[in-house]
Amino acid sequence: MIAGVVGATGLVGREMAATLGRLLPGRIDRFLPFASDGSAGRTVEFEGRRVAVLPFDPGSIPEGAWMLGATSAAVASEWVPEALRRGAVVIDNSSRYRMDPGVPLVVPEVNPHAIPAGCRLVANPNCSTIQLVAVLAPLLDLAGVEWVAVSTYQSVSGAGGPALDELEAQQKGRSPLPREGWFHENILTSIGQDGGGVWCEEETKLMNETAKILGRGFPVFAACARVPVRVGHVESVTVRFESCVDAGAAARRLESAPGVAVSAAGAPPVSVAGTDEVVAGRLRNHPSDGRILQLWITADNVRKGAALNAVQILRLMAGDAVR
Ligand SMILES: NC(=O)c1ccc[n+]([C@@H]2O[C@H](COP(=O)([O-])OP(=O)(O)OC[C@H]3O[C@@H](n4cnc5c(N)ncnc54)[C@H](OP(=O)(O)O)[C@@H]3O)[C@@H](O)[C@H]2O)c1
Repeated sequence: MIAGVVGATGLVGREMAATLGRLLPGRIDRFLPFASDGSAGRTVEFEGRRVAVLPFDPGSIPEGAWMLGATSAAVASEWVPEALRRGAVVIDNSSRYRMDPGVPLVVPEVNPHAIPAGCRLVANPNCSTIQLVAVLAPLLDLAGVEWVAVSTYQSVSGAGGPALDELEAQQKGRSPLPREGWFHENILTSIGQDGGGVWCEEETKLMNETAKILGRGFPVFAACARVPVRVGHVESVTVRFESCVDAGAAARRLESAPGVAVSAAGAPPVSVAGTDEVVAGRLRNHPSDGRILQLWITADNVRKGAALNAVQILRLMAGDAVR
């Protein structure tokens, strides 16, 4: 099997290389790590060895290659159509194709059947969406949902490698004029462009992508914030069901859900960094309304929120080829 990562030097791209090796050990005969021209001469780690980063020319993508995208949406617009023309299969992690009605948006534990036979382009959802739907989907088995309210506390790694470098510089007092944002000892109460509207970009992604993946019409009300944490997104989630759902029954349902772990005390970001699971914690009902359930959801945004989910999609699509 030939597999490649476009954006292999970034936070998500490096994790994709590591995850390909971890989930498909010895199965990739040729690994193609692409990045921008600025990364000429660099290497990335793959299956215990250093592999030279290749200058990126979409015209050099071989037919039948499995290409994971870890670039911005603007860069994805440039290379994904050419990769598809050349007969590659693409799983893109940027926001470029997520809301395209013809492109499946997939979390393998939730909607694997959204990928039709012969499909060659699948979009990986936003990090905050993946951990939310991994927990909401099993809860939908218990009762209908009237609405969901989610407040996010998102780590700086979610904004990419340069933002993490900037956080470190700010912590050392070396970044008087931040380009990515003032993260240190701060909370940024919107993430991404607001497009002139009332919702910031991250909130719009979370609401629209959740509806597309779950295929349900209930409203999701999102409020997104960036907090000065390196890795791991936390979400405070309130679900109003159509009938009473006991918190204990909800916890038991989540304990049997794939990719989800339950923690009575909840999980801080430091405890999930470098792990695969989405952790649901502190489930409790409203004291006077058993239809309202509150819980916390935590996950490693670079792993399950990005790289791991993309490699799981690859395995799903490759089917027998990887078994
Ligand atoms: N970080 C997360 O937690 C997370 C979660 C979900 C989704 N995402 C999405 O995943 C994508 C990557 O995020 P990231 O955090 O890994 O960003 P990042 O650390 O900034 O990495 C960006 C990557 O894109 C490469 N790149 C830039 N311009 C390029 C070009 N013209 N041709 C080829 N490669 C180019 C960069 O290469 P150079 O090193 O050569 O510049 C780098 O490898 C983004 O769309 C992001 O929104 C990120």
